[in-house]
Amino acid sequence: MRHFDALLHVRGKSLFTADLPEPCGTLYARVFTSPCACGRIISLDTDSAEKEEGVVAVLTASDIPGENQIGSIIKDEPLFAEEEVHYIGQPIALVLAESPRSAKKASSSIRIDLKEMPSVSDPREACKRGLLIAPPRTFLFGEPSKIREQCAHVVTGNAETGGQEHLYLETQCALAVPGEDGTILINSSTQGASYVQMIAARVLGMPMHKIQVNVPRLGGAFGGKEDQATPWAVMAALGVSCTGRPVKLVLQRHEDMVNTGKRHPYTSDFIMGLDESGKIMSWEVDYYQNSGAAGDLSTAIMERTLFHCTGGYFVPNVRATGYCCRTNLAPNTAFRGFGGPQAMFVMEAAIHKASAATGIPVHMIQERNLLQPGDRFPYGMACKSDELRTSWNMCSEKFSVKELRKEAAGFNRRNQRFKKGVSMMPVCFGISFTTSFLNQASALVHVYTDGSVGISTGAVEMGQGVNSRIRQVAAETLGIPVDLTRMESTNTSRNANTSPTAASSGADMNGNAAIAACSEIKSRILSLAAERLCTTSAALNLHEGYLTIDGEASLTGWTDLVKQAYETRIDLSSHAHYATPGLHYNRETERGHPFAYHVCGTAVTVATVDSILGTYEIDRVGIVHHGGKQLNPLIDLGQVEGALIQGMGWVTMEELVWDKDSKRLLTDTLATYKVPDMSFIPHIEVMFARGDELPENIGLMGSKAVGEPPFMYGIGSWFAIMNAIGKEADYIAPMTPEKVLMILRDRKR
Ligand code: MOS
Repeated sequence: MRHFDALLHVRGKSLFTADLPEPCGTLYARVFTSPCACGRIISLDTDSAEKEEGVVAVLTASDIPGENQIGSIIKDEPLFAEEEVHYIGQPIALVLAESPRSAKKASSSIRIDLKEMPSVSDPREACKRGLLIAPPRTFLFGEPSKIREQCAHVVTGNAETGGQEHLYLETQCALAVPGEDGTILINSSTQGASYVQMIAARVLGMPMHKIQVNVPRLGGAFGGKEDQATPWAVMAALGVSCTGRPVKLVLQRHEDMVNTGKRHPYTSDFIMGLDESGKIMSWEVDYYQNSGAAGDLSTAIMERTLFHCTGGYFVPNVRATGYCCRTNLAPNTAFRGFGGPQAMFVMEAAIHKASAATGIPVHMIQERNLLQPGDRFPYGMACKSDELRTSWNMCSEKFSVKELRKEAAGFNRRNQRFKKGVSMMPVCFGISFTTSFLNQASALVHVYTDGSVGISTGAVEMGQGVNSRIRQVAAETLGIPVDLTRMESTNTSRNANTSPTAASSGADMNGNAAIAACSEIKSRILSLAAERLCTTSAALNLHEGYLTIDGEASLTGWTDLVKQAYETRIDLSSHAHYATPGLHYNRETERGHPFAYHVCGTAVTVATVDSILGTYEIDRVGIVHHGGKQLNPLIDLGQVEGALIQGMGWVTMEELVWDKDSKRLLTDTLATYKVPDMSFIPHIEVMFARGDELPENIGLMGSKAVGEPPFMYGIGSWFAIMNAIGKEADYIAPMTPEKVLMILRDRKR
């Protein structure tokens, strides 16, 4: 059970896009971007840049042969700004030169004259001015406002969560290479190969079959390369189309931090109604999403926010409204959790506030309202499983949460300076793309005459181990050792019309397609063997590379069978398609069955705050995670720990700051944007529980999606710190040490 790329990674032998051999004549691209958050372009002067030594071309919107439009859900984003710019870092021109150095130098000699226009960075202000990406959307369930009026307790408030830089180790990059007859091969560091192909075709005015997108592997993505790998790949392709030479575009870290969008900051208002006993009777919430300057995936992200508006709880009466607010920041985009974490933070904040109002401890309100079988989500789907309550109970027991609370209380009585806090964080996260048609995948499997197997799917390996999982299920299906299998790069000529590897569903969907393709080849081989052995295929199987007859191992090996099949002219390749069954959703009625299943678990977090300095440590996080049958325990553990720490970073130290006037990102380097490091990581214990069995064609061989759900365990850190502070304060994440200090000193930020 290992991550099959581990040896390549630790030896530095893995090939990422920027490591691919550069073809002779490769040009280096540098993007010239807007220095201003909102303005009209009066003039753009590229003449002196074009005359710089080593410069081959400077491309702008007027060089685009097709449509200057890269918008996915909404067509509202040009590749290069034409008349106006809408955020700092918006691409305007592309310099192509013989060396990266010349490209950089030339880019700095481009002159632009802009007439600045008023800009906005606050989503509430944008909403007031009617600057919305799309009309607001509301989920209504029961009669929330009427029920609220009958409630014993009504809590109102607001909550804010900040953005988050993806900080994938590999920055955005692409290498585009010309082929014959106007074809282009784009090597791209993208989560969505077909998407890059489609947009490149649109911008270049070419049919998709002339563009091949190849994705070797990604050095991290976290959602940041679902939509936002596209512009750079398309620019490289445009460079090829204009010069006929290969073009390489690699963003430097600083450019990547400034030019690309991040997790959406949210600011939200809530009203929660509870009865005497702490049962939540009504939930009304308005989410103002800071979408940035273009639609990108904002509406889909808001959709998931609405789906998760009640978090891990059942509320019989709900009204949730989402506003995607257009501001003059870089377009914000997908990030692990995809709007879910933002929703869950608001719910937890309201429960925290309700506790202060009712005197009922937070954990008792949480426990009383946890989802249980038969409960309905506000979009009509019924909760079938008791996994959330089970995980809560297991977490309470395994990590002796009662004792942890007692210990913390005792510690706090004895200590003036240091204070401890404990929090519980239940997570229930829906698995599937909420856009139903995206829930499809394909696999192409070749068995070569020596018995080795090459597998191609639409899944992109980004360090999450999807390739290891697919190899495992393919080997298990064929009944051969896993070392006989190999994953090919993700390539649109081998797997067409693929969905991005996202929504935690890459392994589930592409793995099932691989299983189907392998089953097909195996049944062809077994039919042949049955014919030769005068028996039925049902009596035959393959196990560890050998044919079994009625369950007994034989001496006939996989390689012999493959050779015989080839010589009998049997097709040793197979393509298969998988579509997640049972999904439907009606956006008119806001009802349906958008998720194949939910992933559930509970975390307990203990934090210690230094009440003089405002600094804190997260001491310990204990998690019970319902992951189904584990295919590869180490990969699952890596995903849970990694997501947890990323979630902790989001609510504690990762703070994005923009200058109020210019809207310039001030935290645009790693010197000013702090992320969790080894010394911040607490003692983590993860207990995996099987939980409910999934239906056979859902999940992957009994395992459940693991990419995103554990991110939200991190939210518990915010509340553990808050509980340690022991004061009421605004629900604003991240809770940086500076903020803790302000709260302790009763200062507003
Ligand atoms: Mo992921 S945030 O669904 O790319």
